[in-house]
Amino acid sequence: MANLNTSGIELYDAAERASRDEIVALQTSRMAWSLRHSYDNVPHYRAKCVAKGVHPDDFRQLSDMSKFPFTVKTDLRDTYPFGMFAVPREQISRIHASSGTTGKPVVVGYTKPDLEMWADLMARSIRAAGGRPGMMVHVAYGYGLFTGGLGAHGGAERLGCAVVPVSGGMTERQVQLITDFKPEIIMVTPSYMLALLDGFQAAGIDARRCSLRYGIFGAEPWTNALRGEIEGAFGLDATDIYGLSEVLGPGVAQECVETKDGLHIWEDHFYPEIIDPETGEVLPEGEKGELVFTSLSKQAFPIIRYRTRDLTRLLPGTARPGMRRMEKITGRSDDMIILRGVNLFPTQVEELLLATEWSAGHFQLELTRPGRMDELTVHAEARPWEFSSLNLDDTAKHLAHRIKATIGVTARVVIHPPGGIERSLGKARRVVDRRPKEG
Ligand code: DLL
Repeated sequence: MANLNTSGIELYDAAERASRDEIVALQTSRMAWSLRHSYDNVPHYRAKCVAKGVHPDDFRQLSDMSKFPFTVKTDLRDTYPFGMFAVPREQISRIHASSGTTGKPVVVGYTKPDLEMWADLMARSIRAAGGRPGMMVHVAYGYGLFTGGLGAHGGAERLGCAVVPVSGGMTERQVQLITDFKPEIIMVTPSYMLALLDGFQAAGIDARRCSLRYGIFGAEPWTNALRGEIEGAFGLDATDIYGLSEVLGPGVAQECVETKDGLHIWEDHFYPEIIDPETGEVLPEGEKGELVFTSLSKQAFPIIRYRTRDLTRLLPGTARPGMRRMEKITGRSDDMIILRGVNLFPTQVEELLLATEWSAGHFQLELTRPGRMDELTVHAEARPWEFSSLNLDDTAKHLAHRIKATIGVTARVVIHPPGGIERSLGKARRVVDRRPKEG
């Protein structure tokens, strides 16, 4: 039965209406294909299977996945640039790459049908966030090798929206374009959305009065506290979008605007697992651990059991009952700071900052090692209208106390004037590590 809203637009596609059993059946048959496709066409993955003594024929049901080897970032670096591609170079329609922080970039490829699938999933994501055909979408994710800009672009066009392909940067101009063109939707990293808010304030324009109704934010961890901040400042509905280059780009999972309760994983195309990051064991449903993905339909760059390093848990579906949700990501295992034995994620600091009156959420964590011990400094920026009236010493001490009481680490807090913390054009750099390099 078609699912129509009042304006007659079909709201959900077939997979979004499917039952859990139907999704599991689809995943099982697609998984058999994807495993065989990788095994037959990616020598590197075949060698890993052979070394582990498994073969695609050993796959009968989804729980058999635990027998198959993981794929990790170094597999992709070792086969740079095209060694993990499963189709001849001539069938590749698009290349993207993610730079990462060290070494060679990870290079991914898409066939024409892969790009179609991606556009479909992004269109589904934008619709789940509240977007409808005919709306205008301001895309401020970076265009280029990064998957954000072009990924969002393809989905917005597929849904039947008018796309404004602005990319990142030139904040003043972005504010002007939003004011003049009046888009209903914005797609951008949450940290850059805060930079746009500064831009509105600098231009003397009340962001609450702008045309934006829906914001689709992702590519970096962000908290529900920041959601509240952005929704309040712009008067829009903010949802979370997740993805990674190795698995697709944006559009692997998306939060539904009607529930805002974590991200539905588009399980008709991706199979998620949660593992213990230390042992690699698959954890029982609902436990928190490292997210692992297997692609079920990708041709050019099939990926089996990719260890994302992202930490979350799986939850049952709500707004789309057939597909499970992942809880909002608190951080990556490689973003985690271990300070004198206490684990700390930047998002925990974000939450505490946004609970204050004076912070707008711009912050950076600096790690140093002046003597033998690591030290953490939280650099946080005050809102323009708060800075001059703040007692900086007391405010800093108060926050340091909250950090100690709730997270359990000792941190020095430095409060900066407006504009004092570097602005990112895309993903914010939350941790600056100035400790001497080992060895
Ligand atoms: O960031 C793809 C993307 C573009 C997603 C635009 C959403 C919007 P990569 O550059 O390969 O791809 O980085 C992937 O970013 O493993 C996470 O650590 C992080 N990440 C992406 N989305 C979220 C999110 C894109 N919603 C890496 N919440 C992932 C938290 C996210 N972290």
